[in-house]
Amino acid sequence: MYYPEEVIQQVIDRNDIEDVVSSCVELKKSGSNLVGLCPFHNEKTPSFTVSPNKRMFYCFGCGVGGNVISFVMRYENMDFQEALKYLAERGGVTLPESRYSREDREKSEHRQLMLDANREAAVFYYKNLYSPKGIKGLKYLKEERRLSDETIKKFGLGFSEITDSSLVKHLKTKGFADKVLIDAGLALFDEKRGLRDRFWNRVMFPIMDMHRKVIGFGGRVMGDSKPKYLNTSESPIFDKSRNLFGLNYARGSRANNFIICEGYMDVISMHQAGFDQAVASLGTAFTNEHAAMLERITQKAKKKILLAYDSDGAGVNAALRAIDMLRDVGIMPRVINMKPYKDPDEFIKNLGPEEFQKRIDEAENGFMYILRQTEADFDMSDPEGKTSFEKNIAMLLCTLNEGAERDNYAETVSRKYNITMENLRKLMVFYSTGIFQTQKRPSREDLSNRPKVKDSGKNQKLLLGWISNDPELYPQISSIVKPEDFDEGVLRESAERLFSDIQNGTINIPAMIAAYEDPESQSEAASIFGVRMIMPETKEERSKAFTELVEKVKRNSYSRWAEASAGSAEDMIKAIEMKKALEKLKDLKLDVK
Ligand code: UTP
Ligand code: MN
Repeated sequence: MYYPEEVIQQVIDRNDIEDVVSSCVELKKSGSNLVGLCPFHNEKTPSFTVSPNKRMFYCFGCGVGGNVISFVMRYENMDFQEALKYLAERGGVTLPESRYSREDREKSEHRQLMLDANREAAVFYYKNLYSPKGIKGLKYLKEERRLSDETIKKFGLGFSEITDSSLVKHLKTKGFADKVLIDAGLALFDEKRGLRDRFWNRVMFPIMDMHRKVIGFGGRVMGDSKPKYLNTSESPIFDKSRNLFGLNYARGSRANNFIICEGYMDVISMHQAGFDQAVASLGTAFTNEHAAMLERITQKAKKKILLAYDSDGAGVNAALRAIDMLRDVGIMPRVINMKPYKDPDEFIKNLGPEEFQKRIDEAENGFMYILRQTEADFDMSDPEGKTSFEKNIAMLLCTLNEGAERDNYAETVSRKYNITMENLRKLMVFYSTGIFQTQKRPSREDLSNRPKVKDSGKNQKLLLGWISNDPELYPQISSIVKPEDFDEGVLRESAERLFSDIQNGTINIPAMIAAYEDPESQSEAASIFGVRMIMPETKEERSKAFTELVEKVKRNSYSRWAEASAGSAEDMIKAIEMKKALEKLKDLKLDVK
């Protein structure tokens, strides 16, 4: 990090969160909190909450949250450093001359050089494609993939020739240093052969970020050898989980939706057929960061999200995961049916744009898609199988946040699967009378009662949130619950901090949030402490609920560990100890607030 923690703390202390937020958002008192209309998403009833005690804000509608720095970052669209400077000035804090400024400047110069080299490489590959050296590639793109010159130009497609260092030679004459070419992922180095091109004999797909800067490449072999696509590996300028192929164009599309698909060629085919709203994740799965990014873009533009994943088993699973991630950020996507073809590229080639548009119009609601796919896991001819399926449906329905939405789906489901509303309601009541109610929907895996139940972090958050409200609980369970019981990343780091804060006598929530510079992690940290709990009435019930929560977190930790374990003798002993710890929980006598 740039500035020492004490300085960041000073900036937080000198800027009252209530003051800062209320100069931008109209706030009303509500209990010990202040509430208002969230500036980060469209809403009519206020769910944006500022807690002067915890010195944080949290929106129960969109899940955005953080400390005073996070607020400025989001509201003013600044990065961490900028927001810090802004608030330092506002609060009269003098920031020390940054110790790393030279190093940082060098880093940013190096980044710029990598971008320059990538741009130059894209031009080089493009020219190559239209030179005699590129005949094979051009023929492949035009005849086999049926791309027009216009499309090739729009996407800047190119060709890397068979010789093993023509790009390196070219870039070196342009004055680029070896290190720049290696770091940008354009060249490889080994002792025997020296510096050589990373890509050869492939058609090249330049990958651009939102500002049309070339940040990497995908290269496809012509024919069937492996790997089919070779991609630039992660680099300081190429972060796969934050970029989508085609987004630079799709952002400006006039369509009222975005289409997410799996492949480069799918995006290009769709654009060529007039669907310029298509994007693809880059050779990896769709991530939570992608979902968060799309949420920010679509929220403002009021656009829908459609999934056009491959129709095979892998594609279905990828679609289910993507739906869960999108639902986590409050988006319900629709799913385009590609059958009988494998992917959008093949579909359009065979049936054309009009048929594809029909499939867009007929796209299936993501929730109904999940149900339909879930159905396949149950034997519907067996009464027991059907009952389990009904239970599953009820659990899934309980994950829907809004009452009206839930009722609508319940009715549709009741009709489609021939379950009486009465039955469905009964099941839903049964599954929704958990003691806790969080705003965040549990993921599909969370709720399915298949053997491998994975906690999406909900229970861990609840446990930390509860402990932060009632710190006296911690010493009572400190021999049982450890930071290692929490998922790696924000959860575990927050647990570490919270527990050591409690031992030191003060809980500092803004500082825990300030441990992160990116707004997503800040929101995640804030969601732990912003969690809204519906507490049971009596002390006895609260104590029971807390114990159950500890047990769930321990079980999750245990199964995560067991999954990773190699089954050694040592592990066996540890497993027995863990089981014992779980049993000890039953005798725990808690003193709960
Ligand atoms: P597919 O195997 O579905 O390929 O991979 P595709 O898009 O249909 O490719 P074509 O039509 O045969 O050219 C989908 C995406 O997964 C990534 C690429 O981003 C590809 O577009 N992928 C696939 C890789 O990164 N590496 C591979 O070896 C294969
Ligand atoms: Mn394909």
